[in-house]
Amino acid sequence: MRTPRRAALGLGASLGDPAAALALAARALDALPGTRVIATSRVYWSPPAGGVARRPFLNAVVVVETSLSPRELVRAGREIESRAGRRASRRWADRVLDVDLLLVEGIASRDPEAQLPHPRLGDRPFALVPLVEAWPSAAHPVTGKHYAARLAARVALPAIGTLPRPTGGIGPRRAGESAMKFFLDTANLDEIREAASWGIIDGVTTNPSLIAREGRDFVDTIYQICTIIDGPVSAETVAVDAPKMIEEGRLLARVHRNVVVKVPLTIEGIKCCKALSSEGIRVNVTLCFQPMQALIAAKAGATYISPFLGRLDDVSEDGMDLIQKIVQIYANYPELKTQVLSASIRHPLHMVQAAMAGSDVATAPFKVYKSLYSHPLTDKGNAAFLKDWETVPDRDIVGQVNRWLSSRG
Ligand code: G3P
Repeated sequence: MRTPRRAALGLGASLGDPAAALALAARALDALPGTRVIATSRVYWSPPAGGVARRPFLNAVVVVETSLSPRELVRAGREIESRAGRRASRRWADRVLDVDLLLVEGIASRDPEAQLPHPRLGDRPFALVPLVEAWPSAAHPVTGKHYAARLAARVALPAIGTLPRPTGGIGPRRAGESAMKFFLDTANLDEIREAASWGIIDGVTTNPSLIAREGRDFVDTIYQICTIIDGPVSAETVAVDAPKMIEEGRLLARVHRNVVVKVPLTIEGIKCCKALSSEGIRVNVTLCFQPMQALIAAKAGATYISPFLGRLDDVSEDGMDLIQKIVQIYANYPELKTQVLSASIRHPLHMVQAAMAGSDVATAPFKVYKSLYSHPLTDKGNAAFLKDWETVPDRDIVGQVNRWLSSRG
């Protein structure tokens, strides 16, 4: 089995439904054997190049981790193109899909079937711009020069959207990761007990405001929550200097094995995170509002980073853009193990977007989860089923099945 390597593939399309073709290609690449998508760029619009094509192109780059050889990747690209309906055409002509192998980590090759790096990568802004976005540290395998440096002098390309990530690997998943975990954002024991009965809640987050709202003893409340939900329970320190925060954190961690110590994203908070995480105590770094804060927390060993998307939306900033950026940055550096915990969630759409962006966890208030269940058509459909069932002569399923089973001895 070849050691997996990072490889970048350039996608381009101008005929038919270009956006759908790019999405299909990303999914198909993610489904290749020994391969998974670890990052995707946004989708860029570029004018027809080469003087043959007449329609504008949509371009994007997908970065995969793969154990396939460059030739196998090129052949798979051809196969995906033909599956999308690509027919042989003149060079530079309009096409339904183009899949070009641009770069494979550490490989320079003159193989005519898989020249690496792609010989025209350096002077194609429609490949260079999305490449550097999806793989910022991408470098020439021989010179070691970063492609980002080449970009500086190049034209800016209009980004027209994000490339839907392959369902197989929603977002840049890390190996072995499971579906988005559901945390409850409350310190109210009644809400926690009821939510626990649903069987889908994986953890709880609290903060000083949520604790204050309950008017109960802090430590006992945290302990009670840990006995109701057998999963990570975030308890926040309130000291402002690192030594005191560390003392509070060490003590909170002794309340129950489920306790995760929550600290604010301040310099003192990060010092505390570094100290506690190096002692094996899980830390949730909270009040994150920009991507570099998230990288700082990850480098300090945080188990969770809590970007507050609702509070960004409150000030007319795009909270979901922050989540996407953090997921992307973490994906670029697989050695980082910090999980993205989307927080300050205000409504069901935030939950959908967090899952689409590949967030590891979402924490939401009780009422948001309640509304997640409901859909008018579900209720209407169920009511119709039950009404129709009223017309069935024998409506007692338990009785029927028991009789049927006993009749078969
Ligand atoms: O627990 C942190 C966070 O979820 C707070 O949310 O609604 O107060 O912005 P919110």
